[in-house]
Amino acid sequence: MYPRKTLFLILLAIPSQLVASKKARAFIAAHKLPDDIIEAADRVFSSKEVYRALKKCRKKTLREAGIHLIQAGDNIIMEHPDVPGYIMKWGNRFHGLYSTIRRIRMAEKIDNYLKREKITTVHVPHKWLYHLPGRGKKLRDRNYLVFSEKMPVQPKKSPRHLSHQAMKDTCKVIRRFAIVDASPGNMGILDEDNVAILDTEPTIRTGGGLWYVFDNPLSRLVQAKVGTWLFRRSLQDK
Ligand SMILES: Nc1ncnc2c1ncn2[C@@H]1O[C@H](COP(=O)(O)OP(=O)(O)OP(=O)(O)O)[C@@H](O)[C@H]1O
Ligand SMILES: [Mg+2]
Repeated sequence: MYPRKTLFLILLAIPSQLVASKKARAFIAAHKLPDDIIEAADRVFSSKEVYRALKKCRKKTLREAGIHLIQAGDNIIMEHPDVPGYIMKWGNRFHGLYSTIRRIRMAEKIDNYLKREKITTVHVPHKWLYHLPGRGKKLRDRNYLVFSEKMPVQPKKSPRHLSHQAMKDTCKVIRRFAIVDASPGNMGILDEDNVAILDTEPTIRTGGGLWYVFDNPLSRLVQAKVGTWLFRRSLQDK
């Protein structure tokens, strides 16, 4: 039988599990897509073949389902004409972990910061959770997609000009959140005065998981410097 100490620890753990799942349910409810979008998305994602194709990154099957692949590698970034205005993301890289949730959390943290600081030149797409039909409800990457508000970004290869104010504000946000990978694919230029932070992968300031290991002032400074350098380098007006 279990020693008394182990039993005591198990008893202590049970309520914390309940709180966690309650929290997860609240998170799911707070980030639910509008019903009409869910219906349209269900028509795309309800088949087992499509789910398997996401898991195995089978591009042909995904295309046959009418999905337009923007990127298909570690993560699959896609669009579908029946779900206009949204970019959908399946995270394979940290499969089974919680990168989905963290992406949504980071987007919200950045958005709150932008509002607090009254920054109007930097934007972050709104993000929702979409539950894949037939999958468990547990808040795990394999059960959900992230739906992201599609931003009107200029093509990555077009000349990238930015006003002084937009550049200043974007660098401020990069520094605040230590966004190390501020490369053109992750930072969309909307026009001369507006930038969108498309990729809200967790950073040391918002992260959780392994990022905590690096959460110290020096590491934050280095990541912020790398991020601002990458961002400035990607623009014509340096
Ligand atoms: N909300 C959006 N609006 C418009 N385009 C987007 C949006 N989100 C992503 N994209 C497009 O998809 C590309 C890849 O997106 P993202 O950087 O989020 O994926 P990723 O690099 O695979 O993810 P991660 O770096 O988190 O592993 C972007 O460069 C952009 O072209
Ligand atoms: Mg990216």
